[in-house]
Amino acid sequence: MSSGPGHLFLGEDEKALVHRALDEWQLNRYRFGESDEPSMVYALEREFEQRTGARHCLAVNSCTSALLTALVALGVGPGDEVIVPGYTFIASIAAIVHRGAVPVLAEIDESLTLDPEDVVRRITPATKAILAVHMLGAPAEMGELRRIADEHGLFLVEDAAQACGGRYRGRALGTIGDAGAFSLNRFKIITSGDGGLLTLADDTAYERAFAFHDHGFKPLRQGIADADSLFGMNLRMHELSGAVALGQLRKIDDILGTLRKQKTAFLDAIGELPGVTRRRITDPDGECSSFLVLRFETVEAARAVAGLLGTSTLIDSGRHYYGNMPQLLARRTPTPSEHPFSCPAHPTDRRYTPNMLPRTDDVLGRSVALSVGVVDAYLGSGVGINPLSSPDEIEAAARAVRSAVYEVVART
Ligand SMILES: Cc1ncc(COP(=O)(O)O)c(C=O)c1O
Repeated sequence: MSSGPGHLFLGEDEKALVHRALDEWQLNRYRFGESDEPSMVYALEREFEQRTGARHCLAVNSCTSALLTALVALGVGPGDEVIVPGYTFIASIAAIVHRGAVPVLAEIDESLTLDPEDVVRRITPATKAILAVHMLGAPAEMGELRRIADEHGLFLVEDAAQACGGRYRGRALGTIGDAGAFSLNRFKIITSGDGGLLTLADDTAYERAFAFHDHGFKPLRQGIADADSLFGMNLRMHELSGAVALGQLRKIDDILGTLRKQKTAFLDAIGELPGVTRRRITDPDGECSSFLVLRFETVEAARAVAGLLGTSTLIDSGRHYYGNMPQLLARRTPTPSEHPFSCPAHPTDRRYTPNMLPRTDDVLGRSVALSVGVVDAYLGSGVGINPLSSPDEIEAAARAVRSAVYEVVART
């Protein structure tokens, strides 16, 4: 079944919370005086703050909305550049483009996350923010990235869509940057079908974020909006999504514990293999253990093993590799002459071409992701195990990996 780990843990707890909302027909995050009980969405936000230590949490309807809201809250817009890795889901780049800011692609390293040295090389006077992505459930090099952001006076935003519950040197992901965005879609650590969470470190940024996600209102719609309030959108999380997400959040330790146990068993069963190493994990204690990434010495070996397993290398993983994003390569916007690519007020000669990030291409071309908790062919992890796999199933999956590797070794 294609899903993330949270989906397999859905059960009676989530149902009970949904029924509580339905029993009173409370379908919106506000009570409008009908009840003193906090809404599910409100409870979710406060419990997420407690769990992560985030100063503020705002629930929204997707991680894409959370990213867009973060950039609005931090004042990123036309004329600004945002540094983003060339390996991320297209939503990270879409949020930058829809703010009218220019995405500046940077290399990843063997951790499959932003290479801090390359980030420094790409800073210009127009740079406003670094958008780090915790790809495939493991943290980016947050210590270095925070230091670079501070040194250059830049905002640091964390795209933690794939890494809810992850940590870096003891700190919850999403709380090291100025803002953090999480996804609750079907393929994520916890899910409400669709949904997103945004963490913010600053009170004013939170007020701006709240206003943007809800028609310019003050936080929790308390009081009349100020005269300087922003135009907002409606990106609110639905109360039934909030109920499911709350049930999931309360079992996240169970989910992460299971993933860790399954990954260890899978690794033990695979053992050492000739010509195969593993992805560098910046903080092994803080990863979500939702994937196992094997690295090969050559692109040819990686492709051959992937083919035998019925999967593909990470460079072929849908709209996660910049070279597979035609709208970026074509610099396409809804109308022909607008931010960020063709606006006379803020001209930019940034172009996006296949092979513009040779190191990223090399790393992704030599990497194969196996599922431990996220079974998603589009992300390149269509084969492997899942949180419910039995010891026999784990052994069988490991055997398939071993025999594919030995068959390719024998051929060369
Ligand atoms: C790295 C990354 N960023 C952003 C998103 C967007 O999340 P959502 O589907 O909740 O908008 C995803 C979703 O897969 C993702 O993987």
